[in-house]
Parts: sequence; C-alpha cells; structure tokens
Amino acid sequence: MAFLNENYLKLQAGYLFPEIARRVRDFCEANPAAADKLIRCGIGDVTEPLPAAAIAGMRRAVDELGKRETFRGYGPEQGYEFLRSAIAQHDYRDHGIAISDDEIFVSDGSKCDCGYILDVLGHQNRIAITDPVYPVYVDTNVMAGHTGPVGSDGRYEGITYLPCTAATKFVPEPPGEAVDLVYLCFPNNPTGAVASREQLTRWVEYARAHDAFLLFDAAYEAYITEPGIPHSIYEIEGARECAIEFRSFSKTGGFTGVRCGFTVMPKSLLARTSDGRQLPLHALWNRRWSTKSNSVSYPVQRGAEALYTEEGRAQVAGLIKHYLGNAAILREAATDAGLGVFGGINAPYIWVKTPDGVSSWEMFDRMLRELNVVITPGSGFGAQGEGYIRISAFNSRSNAEEVATRLERLR
Ligand code: MLT
Repeated sequence: MAFLNENYLKLQAGYLFPEIARRVRDFCEANPAAADKLIRCGIGDVTEPLPAAAIAGMRRAVDELGKRETFRGYGPEQGYEFLRSAIAQHDYRDHGIAISDDEIFVSDGSKCDCGYILDVLGHQNRIAITDPVYPVYVDTNVMAGHTGPVGSDGRYEGITYLPCTAATKFVPEPPGEAVDLVYLCFPNNPTGAVASREQLTRWVEYARAHDAFLLFDAAYEAYITEPGIPHSIYEIEGARECAIEFRSFSKTGGFTGVRCGFTVMPKSLLARTSDGRQLPLHALWNRRWSTKSNSVSYPVQRGAEALYTEEGRAQVAGLIKHYLGNAAILREAATDAGLGVFGGINAPYIWVKTPDGVSSWEMFDRMLRELNVVITPGSGFGAQGEGYIRISAFNSRSNAEEVATRLERLR
C-alpha cells in the first residue's frame, strides 16, 4: 500500500473557510426560514460582475482561439510577455520601482503562489508568521513538513509567531531571534492594518541583517487610500535583495473565480545551498514554472491585461470604491453598536473586537443565529485573533446596508 504525506495529519480540523461553510450549512438545514435571509460576510469573495474591459479582452481572446490564423496552443510557462510587461510597467516602473518583465511570473492566484513558493525554498528554513495570520501561510508549511505538531494553543512547533495586537496597531516588530522566512501581508488580511514606510524599512533591515527573505503578500495594495503608505515592498530600499512579492487580480478585477495573480521574483535575490554557495532563486523559480505549469489560459491573461487599459483601470477603481464604501458603512454600524473597530479604511476587511467575555466562535454563532449574518471568527486566524471577528466588505451595497441595520440589534 502506498504511503501518504503524514504532514497533512498535523493540520488542524479543517481549513477555516470550509469549516465555516459546514457550520453555516448545518444552520441553514436546521433553520430553512433563516437561510433565505442569510448574508455572507465571511470569506473575502467578490460579488460584483467583472469589469467590462476584462470581459471584452477575454472575448477577443476566445474569438482568436476560434480561428486557425490566430489560434494559440501552449503559452509561455511564466506568462505571456504582453501581461508580464503590462504588470511590470504599470504596477512597478510607473511608480519608480525597477522591476523587469522577466521578474514577473503569472499564476493562478496569490493563494496558490504562497504554496508554490515553498518548492524552491529549503526545508531547513526557520519560518516566522504573524498571529493572527492568513491561514494559507501556516498550512502550506505544515503540509511541506516544515513544522512539528500543533500544540493545545493552536500553534505549531517550529514556527516563530509574531503577535499582532491592538497595542501595536496589528503590525509586528522584527523578532529578537534570527529567522529565514517572514510572511508579511499588508494591507493585512485579516486585520485590515497597514504598515508604514518606517515599519517596513525595519523589516527590510532585519531581513538584510539576517540574510532572511520577506514573503510579502500585497494582494490588497489597491485598497490603500491613505497617502504615504507603501503599496509594494520594493518601495523600500534594499528590498530587491530580500523580498518576494505576491499580488493578485482577485480583489482588483474581481478575478477570484477567473484566477490570475503573479509573483515578483527579483533576479538580485540570492539564497544559499547547504555547502555555502549563494545562488539566484530566480533560476529555480523559472525552472519550477517550466516543469510544473503552462501558466493560466490565454483568455484569462488577456482579461488581466485589459485591467491595465485606461478603461480597465477606471473600472477597477470603481469596484474598489464600491467595496470600500461598504467597508465604511460596516465600520460605522459596528462602531455605533458599541464594538471596537479596526481596519476597513485601507482594506476590505473590518476587524471587530467582540464584547468582553464573548469568544470569536460565540460571536460567530450569535451573529449567525440572531442576525443571520456570516462573519469569520478571529480565532480561526490564530491565537491572537481570539476575541475578534472579521467582517468582509465584499458584498452588494444593499447587503452591506442590511448588515449595518442588523448590527443595530447588538447595541
Ligand atoms: C479570505 O477570506 O481571507 C480570502 O478570501 C482568502 C483568499 O483570498 O484566499
């Protein structure tokens, strides 16, 4: 009989979102009348239709595939040049950041990239993650065998946890000890916090001092509204030598179902071998894509490219304005209900303190039963998330307004 990957057995009960879905399903089966009124503010999944520019771009691509003269088979494994170039130009070079087209690797999303990246990183690396954290960073490392078992506090042996609390506005400070890989996500999922230039500079200095890498998830950078907040880790001097950045079209172009994102892998990034050589990680990452993937489909890449046209950018801005408008409504309603509210200004997530003595899952159950609103319990993101819930602003305006009305009942 074949052996299985026993690292999977170390994972906690289930990935957070399927676990929430299971509880909601059970509730709806038992309460069919409430099921009709249910509003989902749990998983951060977009609700609004795709931008017209992306649809037109994808349609044109499909038409091309339907004619012999313009048909295309396998594309470049790293992504088409037209998309890599649009990304490097608009997201980086237009902002004074030197990133070349071939440092962009197109993928099926940044959740996926966060897992794929472990293919080219050694098993010896000491890993640091924030607490609370987007669970994918933890679980992918558990699956890859980079941790010991989970403790009764929900923490895995072998991971350095960086507590993020209200006292530090949910931004972690570099640890006293040396680690090799640090996962950072700003604007943050789940807390909605942003890191200032000074804070990110301290992280780059830490990484340079310890020859560590920052794995910087910038999937929500387009939601930054306040001036002066870095959108990319490469805005910080020295980051090209120590940071990999992940970005996604999921929360900009509404591509959560379409699937497209990218990784920035600078050629200046060096990692070491166990015999002490220093080699560029870019070559390994390129090899990984050539061997394991044929990138995402041509129509999807044309759709993503179209998001960078003038029309596409205006439509993306409209979508973000819509979701941030929801966030403002939800923030105000939660504040009026007497709850402590964070985030939602530079991010589509609102991080809400539960009333004293009420746990995250108790609040989840209460909101499900009494308000028929699904949220995400903060404890699902880590021990420091206990006593918080996350409300997602990804919704229609009418649903956001209805949730705001229902929140009044918590007063
Ligand atoms: C979330 O709800 O945290 C997001 O949907 C996760 C994701 O983008 O994968």
